[in-house]
Amino acid sequence: MANSCAWLLCLFSVLLGHGFVLQLEASHHVYRHLESDQSTTANQPYRTAYHFQPPKNWMNDPNGPMIHKGLYHLFYQYNPYGAVWGHIVWAHSTSTDLINWTPHDPAIYPTQESDINGCWSGSATILPRSKPAILYTGINRQNQQVQNLAVPKNLSDPYLIEWVKSPNNALMAPTAMNKINSSSFRDPTTAWQGPDGRWRVIIGSKRDDRGMAILYRSKDFVHWLEAKHPLHSANGSGMWECPDFYPVSVGIQNGVETSMVGLGIKHVLKWKMILVGDMIMGSFMLQRLSLIVLRPGGSLWGWINESTNATIDIMKGWAGIQGIPKSLWLDKSGKQLVQWPVVEIEKLRVNQVDSPSKVLNGGSVLEVSGITATQADVDIAFEINEFDKVDVLDPSWTNPQLLCSQKGASVKGELGPFGLLVLASNGLQEYTAVFFRIFKGQDKYVVLMCSDQSRSSLHLDYDKTTYGAFVDVDPLQEKLSLRSLVS
Ligand SMILES: *[C@@H]1O[C@H](CO)[C@@H](O)[C@H](O)[C@H]1NC(C)=O
Ligand SMILES: *[C@@H]1O[C@H](CO)[C@@H](O)[C@H](O)[C@H]1NC(C)=O
Ligand SMILES: *[C@@H]1O[C@H](CO)[C@@H](O)[C@H](O)[C@H]1NC(C)=O
Ligand SMILES: *[C@@H]1O[C@H](CO)[C@@H](O)[C@H](O)[C@H]1NC(C)=O
Ligand SMILES: *[C@@H]1O[C@H](CO)[C@@H](O)[C@H](O)[C@H]1NC(C)=O
Repeated sequence: MANSCAWLLCLFSVLLGHGFVLQLEASHHVYRHLESDQSTTANQPYRTAYHFQPPKNWMNDPNGPMIHKGLYHLFYQYNPYGAVWGHIVWAHSTSTDLINWTPHDPAIYPTQESDINGCWSGSATILPRSKPAILYTGINRQNQQVQNLAVPKNLSDPYLIEWVKSPNNALMAPTAMNKINSSSFRDPTTAWQGPDGRWRVIIGSKRDDRGMAILYRSKDFVHWLEAKHPLHSANGSGMWECPDFYPVSVGIQNGVETSMVGLGIKHVLKWKMILVGDMIMGSFMLQRLSLIVLRPGGSLWGWINESTNATIDIMKGWAGIQGIPKSLWLDKSGKQLVQWPVVEIEKLRVNQVDSPSKVLNGGSVLEVSGITATQADVDIAFEINEFDKVDVLDPSWTNPQLLCSQKGASVKGELGPFGLLVLASNGLQEYTAVFFRIFKGQDKYVVLMCSDQSRSSLHLDYDKTTYGAFVDVDPLQEKLSLRSLVS
């Protein structure tokens, strides 16, 4: 059966004659997620052990993650009726530790003219006096995308089970005047307050192929006016799905209030790409294009879609998981956005397996013994000692995902691929390769990181997309560390 074996292997297939050091620490645990129901997990090898997953049915984007009176809330796009996308509502779960979740009834579902055809993605904002408010995209009776407001019915209820919608909905809508494309106007972000006290929010959109973040302002969170110019746009970028805009502090890992501006604070604008910039007089000034490319979803949290097709999803009875929430901060240079799984996940670690440092030779596959479960939290670091022979980076190789697909895990190079083979079957018919390659660039070494799913399943119909990114690490100065959460 596919992926039923779980030897954790380290792959090292090149570096002929070159040595380097491998350090590996790994731990695994078997953990029953509170939300997974036993009857569903039986004979379900692909259900995860500790990622967020509802007991059944379709799930996509995480929505409005927030903390209120010490309790974490996660909402998510959910189909109550089946394992394929449709009938979308905001499902709701709460947690005290970001790991164990208690499911509640859906918080927001179609009831109004302005959302009768679906309650799509949006965000939560904490208003003064700790009052949460949700802005979400509704699909109205005319099948237009519009923005709606919902607030908790009873603020004394710690679980915030019931939400009431504003009678003023829709608060933002395409009109004959504003020329907004009614099929490309969705996913409001968490709002922030400018120095003038007015609330601001951005909505993902596009005009022709120019993707953009349309900016709205409001004094009371109910009446919103479109700003003359979008907060930002980029020609050729297409629709901006699930944008995010938030402040981050430079060099400190503590989170900051969403309306924070000033010294030591920069702003992150995320859609498919991440831009880091400064807020100057209320305008977002671009500083630098980061190379991180995200899947749709939240900034802290991201949806991971299925590899299987709809036929198989219906047989399984579910589709989609959420990634582990991550902390985000800027490094000391203020130029590199760093993300790391929240520390809470480390509480799940049991059965630690340490592997001493080893020198790896070209073409070797090293099996890490002591790990036979399909759940692991792997921390590994590679130190490269010799740079005598390194492939030269062709200046035309600017697309890391494409480069990873062309130079998959089985393509030998001078310095790489080296990394991990996870969820590998006996005989290595199936495995998922997570690996690095090092190239010589114009004036520095360039590190490519890839996740190659081309051998993840023997099934021809499964999605085998390869993902890749250039990582901003100097291999002369530091080790290449890799954290893999297998679940
Ligand atoms: C609000 O929630 C609190 C706490 O659960 C409960 O005691 C109270 O009865 C609720 N109020 C209403 C009007 O439902
Ligand atoms: C509006 O969005 C739809 C769906 O993405 C697209 O087909 C159409 O071309 C867009 N219209 C304009 C003017 O961009
Ligand atoms: C945007 O890109 C299109 C082609 O992708 C091009 O025809 C158009 O001139 C560009 N517009 C601007 C303002 O650069
Ligand atoms: C999952 O998402 C990837 C990336 O967007 C996409 O290429 C792939 O087709 C999706 N898989 C399925 C089964 O929908
Ligand atoms: C889905 O995948 C299964 C297994 O590979 C295959 O038998 C089936 O024909 C596929 N269905 C569709 C609609 O592509």
